[in-house]
Amino acid sequence: MRKAFLLTASVICTVSLMAQPKLSKNNIDEVLGCMTLEEKATLVVGGGWGSMTAGSMTASDASLVSGAAGTTRAIPRLGIPATVLADGPAGLRINPTRPGTSQTFYCTGFPVGTVLASTWNTELVQQLTTAMGEEVKEYGADVLLAPGQNLHRNPLCGRNFEYFSEDPFLTGKMSAAYVKGIQSNGVGVSVKHFAANSQEVNRQNNDSRVSARALRELYLKGFEIAVKESDPWTVMSSYNKINGEFTQQSHGLLTTILRDEWGFGGIVMTDWGNKEGTVAAVKAGNDLMEPGMQNEIDRVVAAVKDGSLDVADLDRNVRRILEYIVRTPRFAGYKYSNKPDLAGHAKLVRAATPEGLVLLENNGVLPLKDVKKVALYGTGAYDFIAGGTGSGNVNKAYVRNIADGLRVNGLEVDQDIETWYNQYIALTKTQLRNNSAGNGLGILLGDPVVPEMEVSRSFMERKLASTDIAILTISRNAGEGDDRKNADGDWTLTGNERQMLQTLADLYHAAGKKFVVVLNIGGVIETASWKNIPDAILLAWTPGQEGGYAVADVLTGAANPSGKLPMTFPVAYFDIPSAANFPANYSGGNSIDLSALFGGGRAPRVLRKDIDYTNYAEDLMVGYRYFTTKGKNVSYPFGYGLSYTTFEYGKPSVKLGKDGKVTATITVKNTGSVAGKEAVQLYVSAPAGGLDKPACELKAFAKTKELKPGESQTLTMVIDAYTLASFNENTCAWETAAGAYKALFGASVADIRATANFKIGKAQSWPAHAVCLPK
Ligand code: BGC
Repeated sequence: MRKAFLLTASVICTVSLMAQPKLSKNNIDEVLGCMTLEEKATLVVGGGWGSMTAGSMTASDASLVSGAAGTTRAIPRLGIPATVLADGPAGLRINPTRPGTSQTFYCTGFPVGTVLASTWNTELVQQLTTAMGEEVKEYGADVLLAPGQNLHRNPLCGRNFEYFSEDPFLTGKMSAAYVKGIQSNGVGVSVKHFAANSQEVNRQNNDSRVSARALRELYLKGFEIAVKESDPWTVMSSYNKINGEFTQQSHGLLTTILRDEWGFGGIVMTDWGNKEGTVAAVKAGNDLMEPGMQNEIDRVVAAVKDGSLDVADLDRNVRRILEYIVRTPRFAGYKYSNKPDLAGHAKLVRAATPEGLVLLENNGVLPLKDVKKVALYGTGAYDFIAGGTGSGNVNKAYVRNIADGLRVNGLEVDQDIETWYNQYIALTKTQLRNNSAGNGLGILLGDPVVPEMEVSRSFMERKLASTDIAILTISRNAGEGDDRKNADGDWTLTGNERQMLQTLADLYHAAGKKFVVVLNIGGVIETASWKNIPDAILLAWTPGQEGGYAVADVLTGAANPSGKLPMTFPVAYFDIPSAANFPANYSGGNSIDLSALFGGGRAPRVLRKDIDYTNYAEDLMVGYRYFTTKGKNVSYPFGYGLSYTTFEYGKPSVKLGKDGKVTATITVKNTGSVAGKEAVQLYVSAPAGGLDKPACELKAFAKTKELKPGESQTLTMVIDAYTLASFNENTCAWETAAGAYKALFGASVADIRATANFKIGKAQSWPAHAVCLPK
């Protein structure tokens, strides 16, 4: 039927070249029928590297958005506009200034993905991304290249801060909320990087070798939830391979699983790199090549001409791109204001951020009482890190630091210490900038991190008498292009940091005063060896532009933190099973290293473990799945976080409905003396007899509203039978076993407050396809 229509459309087109149709929602097939082969090839290839940098913009693209990551190409004769794609995920990343105008185009620096997940509050995430989406729309972009939702397979992945969690269920729920918020503005998202992009080292070529079960249950599950629950406009295929095949060229991944099994209806675009297999990508259902190169257009044209690419495959992708284009604000001619509500969003971010901050330790010192003057140490206290580097960086107008935050909360910061730090930071930044001058990437990729300053014991001693408390901020940053290192200054503290920590603790404790540590870090670090030294540890993460204010709001008690960890903090790095297969000490970065694959004459050479390929040998044993199953000690468990109040969990009820859904309820009461919120996690232990499973898995969660002292709330969580299923590699099906299940209601995975049993009477299964299998 469709073919017949296309034929008619192209006949109409040929006979009346004068009456060219202009694209509308109702004539997609007609427009497709009028496109030349070259035009079709043009539409599946993006606008090119640098198409959005201010310098390269011509008058005709002046309406586009400087600093956006890419575009789709326009075909004016058919009324097809170029659309604009911009990063993501901690806010919109565009150039903050443009030549010829004094207007600025700053965007709000929102909390990074890990902080969003730490809130365990999907409503709040949706509220934040609704605001973020307004910036996307009002600055004239059509798609935000976000959320990033790869799993935290290993804590040293350089981009973990952009991603949500080590758990696929939490990841999927966060992603769905994120997508709904952005898309409620009538702009799109690109959930990325699909899939199993768990490291930055050699990310363009690395082969993730993973079992079908771990792939389905861990690395794809979050995407599955997001696709089914939030209907993202686009998905971004990753750079890496899965089991020997580039994801961009994997029909099994991009068509069989994504579309046929999950019902995805949008477009797939590549991550930003030109691979030789353009034709394979088109066939696989990778609709759009980004950022787009002329040689990709040429390959598509040549392949159709020589018969190696069926034009029907190209038409299918072109149609999907047209369907995407007609949804965009640019197609609708939306007159964006270039004036999003930055002030309103700053307020929202400040109020929301404490929900993502995690109080790790507190012997009663927090919230601060009877404190007037603070000895504030650590470069991060004055040069707060709001988010990571790389494409996840946002060009925000300012970042609130902790010193200012304490002042707006009525405290005094020791002036000598502040002046000394500020001078050191200014000097070091100038040096760092000079060293990297000329690469032109600074503004896009984020500021260099200033290494910690050395402070002598005698200086600290001099400041002891005149200050009431010492606070030390420990900082780390990471970003796209490299993984973190299992080394001092990254995973572990430097000698200088340890010494400062111990000296401040010794001095202040000897004087009967307190000492607090703030962690301004993008990902997990080693804590077990030093966590008992300070009186409190506040994990601030890299929580966006209002971070320093939010930290101070929490320290002073203006806000009660309610964040909980979306990942495990192990005792030691090598406690993590994936540490055996991760490039934790590789320093070669992610340059496109074809010599890794081909020596002279392109003969295959020996592939390097963890660089050219990575064995996901730990299989399902990622994060708490491993630590709970093996009963291994951790520094802080998944789901953990303290509050300034306490909560009591009532007796739960779990009922299996006729629809096969399990409804769990539990009443939570605030038993402390200040208002607060509690995130309740529902883990499920499966019956013996079915597939072997981890000891327990997160299957639902809910967060209370702000409960006043003495106030209670009943939380309801619903789990359907499919959510309980595991992937059986032998039958290639999702299976939910019959038998007695245990529902565990936890304040963390290691702090189960109540349990209840439920029975599934009949086993169920859902067939899947045998694709993306290990070789
Ligand atoms: C990153 C993507 C990003 C894209 C465009 C790539 O290098 O991996 O996350 O969206 O660049 O900036």
